[in-house]
Amino acid sequence: LSASVTVDPAFVVGPVRRRTFGSFVEHLGRSVYTGIHDPEHPTADADGFRGDVVELTRELGVSTVRYPGGNFVSGYRWEDGIGPVEDRPRRLDLAWHSTDPNLVGVDEFMRWAERTGVEPMMAVNLGTRGVQEALDLLEYCNVPGGTAWSDLRRANGAEEPYRVSMWCLGNEMDGPWQIGAKTAAEYGRLAAETARAMRMIDPDLELVVCGSSNSGMPTFGAWEHTVLTEAYEHVDHVSAHAYYYEEDGDLASFLASAVDMDHFVDSVAATADAVRAAGKHTKRIHISFDEWNVWYQKRAESRPPSGDDWPVAPVLLEDRYNVADAVVVGNLLISLLRHTDRVHAASQAQLVNVIAPIMTEPGGRSWKQTIFHPFALTSRHAAGEVLRLAIDAPTTDTARFGEVPVLDAVATHDAGTGEVVVLATNRSVTDEVTLDVDLRGFEGLRVVEALTLSNPDHTWSATADDDSSVAPRSNATAQVADGRLGAVLPPVSWSIVRLG
Ligand code: AHR
Repeated sequence: LSASVTVDPAFVVGPVRRRTFGSFVEHLGRSVYTGIHDPEHPTADADGFRGDVVELTRELGVSTVRYPGGNFVSGYRWEDGIGPVEDRPRRLDLAWHSTDPNLVGVDEFMRWAERTGVEPMMAVNLGTRGVQEALDLLEYCNVPGGTAWSDLRRANGAEEPYRVSMWCLGNEMDGPWQIGAKTAAEYGRLAAETARAMRMIDPDLELVVCGSSNSGMPTFGAWEHTVLTEAYEHVDHVSAHAYYYEEDGDLASFLASAVDMDHFVDSVAATADAVRAAGKHTKRIHISFDEWNVWYQKRAESRPPSGDDWPVAPVLLEDRYNVADAVVVGNLLISLLRHTDRVHAASQAQLVNVIAPIMTEPGGRSWKQTIFHPFALTSRHAAGEVLRLAIDAPTTDTARFGEVPVLDAVATHDAGTGEVVVLATNRSVTDEVTLDVDLRGFEGLRVVEALTLSNPDHTWSATADDDSSVAPRSNATAQVADGRLGAVLPPVSWSIVRLG
């Protein structure tokens, strides 16, 4: 198969946003306990945070980290997680049928975020709680001092306010599984009032209202319309969540998952714009795609414990990712970048152990899953502006999406350094794609580095003993001649070509 692409510096979608490369840490399974936090680990700091995980998070190139949930947040009492650790209560976590010992709370998380160099993105509980508790947490985090909650923070060791900018107004409130789930009208009112009151403390907050939990929800579209009609003037972003997995051996549809993400973003943007027009609003609402990833939700390890079993940090959602999963993750990042005009933030769900690029053994080794690589490389090298591409590619038939182009790609251009980065996925299950990229809009580009992630066995996955064999390899077929980049992309592959 062959495909042609034209890249031109004039066709700018918008800036590459660092917040596209966010992640997520939820009190779920071994994400916090034995994930980021493991006092017994040889690299643990005074708070018990693993140094090796901090280093891997930095290498992954994570910008923001959403915390503390997720479904967990809808039953969370944030006050349980402050003050002397030995005095903190153990609580049932109903979302994941676990026990939370509250060894990590907001103060520890903020110290971890600072040490890791990430921007914290907090979520408030709008499931079992409401406006007042959200205000209390905001006061604790962002008010410099002189009030009960802010002085308590100072007494707990944080003299300076955390000044958290991004706040999620609850989590997946459209989902029947959510503690305190609501109708769109109920939630829209609560979100609007919570946002309005939070802005009385800090008008500069960036607030994320809950959109749909996935594009297959029966209320998808209608939910966003109702919620935004209530809350439009009080919020900045609407959330989107999407998880993909290979179902019943249908690899072709799975590889085309980004088609659904494209549809999701376009639909939510259109709905937000419709509310904008009807409400005669001037500002635009942007999308925070604050949960996305590959997640094999039907596997047994996604099922929480039951009965009287309420374990601390059980093994939950510990998906082992293969090459095809990494190719899909790379393609989902292409989709997010392509929509940089509307997607202003995103969080891969999640960071450690739970559907995660980073895995840990309690007290022991940490290692990278296959999906680590496309995220880290895209985060490291995508810079400057995202360019709109003209792509001419053959199609492949999929059961879920019909005919889809075998090639998906995006490019970025950093006018400062002159570097152009082409990110491309070959979604064909069987055929390689010979790529021809017209670069004549630029002068004198040559290949700085070309890497391809693929494997003759697309089910190959990393282990603690070997997490490097599947790292992307140099692609020697990538060459520039006469202003054109040529490259051969193997089937089921993701590639990055840096040109400078
Ligand atoms: O990321 C795992 C879970 O997926 C989150 O807790 C929830 O928000 C979503 O359904």
